[in-house]
Amino acid sequence: MRISIFGSGYVGLVTGACLAEVGNHVICVDVDAQKVARLNQGHVPIHEPGLDDLIKNNMAEKRLEFTTDAIKAIAFSEVIFIAVGTPPDEDGSADLRYVLAVAQSIGQHLTEYKAIIDKSTVPVGTADKVRATVQAELNKRGVQQRFDVISNPEFLKEGAAIGDFMRPDRIIIGADNADVEELMHELYAPFNRNHDRLLIMDIRSAELTKYAANAMLATKISFMNEMANLAERVGADIEQVRLGIGSDPRIGFGFIYAGCGYGGSCFPKDVNALERTFREYGMEAQLLTAVSAVNQRQQQVMFAKIHNHFKGDLQGKRFALWGLAFKPNTDDMREAPSRPLMEALWQAGAQVQAYDPKAMDETRRIYGERADLTLCDSPEAALQGADALLVVTEWQVFRSPDFKLIHSQLKNPVIFDGRNLYNYNRLKKNGFSYYAIGRGD
Ligand code: UGA
Repeated sequence: MRISIFGSGYVGLVTGACLAEVGNHVICVDVDAQKVARLNQGHVPIHEPGLDDLIKNNMAEKRLEFTTDAIKAIAFSEVIFIAVGTPPDEDGSADLRYVLAVAQSIGQHLTEYKAIIDKSTVPVGTADKVRATVQAELNKRGVQQRFDVISNPEFLKEGAAIGDFMRPDRIIIGADNADVEELMHELYAPFNRNHDRLLIMDIRSAELTKYAANAMLATKISFMNEMANLAERVGADIEQVRLGIGSDPRIGFGFIYAGCGYGGSCFPKDVNALERTFREYGMEAQLLTAVSAVNQRQQQVMFAKIHNHFKGDLQGKRFALWGLAFKPNTDDMREAPSRPLMEALWQAGAQVQAYDPKAMDETRRIYGERADLTLCDSPEAALQGADALLVVTEWQVFRSPDFKLIHSQLKNPVIFDGRNLYNYNRLKKNGFSYYAIGRGD
């Protein structure tokens, strides 16, 4: 098939590369000329395992190209994906400006049938707005042309996005006629192995499914974080509780890890946007409001423990911080729990010596050069002369460190573990003060 994808961000690039990989001809369009130029030279602007090779190989095979030329892309394809960003505006709702700008441009240049697919995370009712925007442009031109709008939300996890696209659990399609259902079956046939993974539903249900899925996962995490805080008080261990409840298949083991809060470009934004949708319809999202509030509080929990341990005296203290990205296998620091933690430490007059396997450049970009931040080139280098070690992201490389070395490098053998990576009793036995989440003191 001939496919165009508007938006060469995270979702657009992964979608474009994976669709090209199975033999489609894909044009990715972006308004950022510099980004397009760099992509055409093979520079992929995000870190995602496997994406670089996929993009380079498919470019070499001439199945994938990048352009700023929207008119060419619209003329080229039968299927057009909208995968542009929907950043939150001031009140937390998703800003549809970029989505509707693409719709407008499609309407201005449409000359034959197109299937327009909303891939961006967009609130319920957006497909109707896209349809109305395209139609308004056609009307202005006095053109009668059939087109379809489809909702096809994505469920990619950063760090595992290629696998998620190539071997999806489910493919959600919101469609309103049988022809377009058939087209979607054809488009997704290469990813639809073993059994039919397409779930075809009405458009609004598909749009809501995306938000409901992320909100449910965020709810599980906040629930566990709330339980973790209680576990600490009552002398229970949240890790034992996790095993105890996860083994009930109705609950399951996924997304019940307590920690220093969820981050990323999706959960915080999507929970807020969904809350906003409730309000728009005159309703109150009591549960979602609590999910966000618990998460914000949870992002402060490590700082509170540090503050208590050092009896409020953090002036001039040095902290080794392992893990800056919001989760492993990405360099993304959007809403990362490391950020409020570092900022609170700086506010209190402390120094941070940080290491992350992938997010060093991103940290430099966000915070620039500052006297109270040292970016170290190894986990060990970050430890030197520090008053304590803070573990914020559960990268594999932090899971089994040399505790003797940690003990010898730190000024004080203190570990604050925001991801419950280590054996509580062993660390205590080896002379560490060990603070985890939802376990002991
Ligand atoms: C999330 C969803 O998992 C994807 O299905 C969805 O497609 C994506 O949002 C999106 O809407 O685009 P992502 O934000 O990449 O994916 O990251 P997750 O792996 O879901 O992790 C989110 C956050 O939750 C991380 O900060 C992680 O550390 C935290 N988390 C996760 C926990 O604190 N505990 C857990 O048990 C699981």
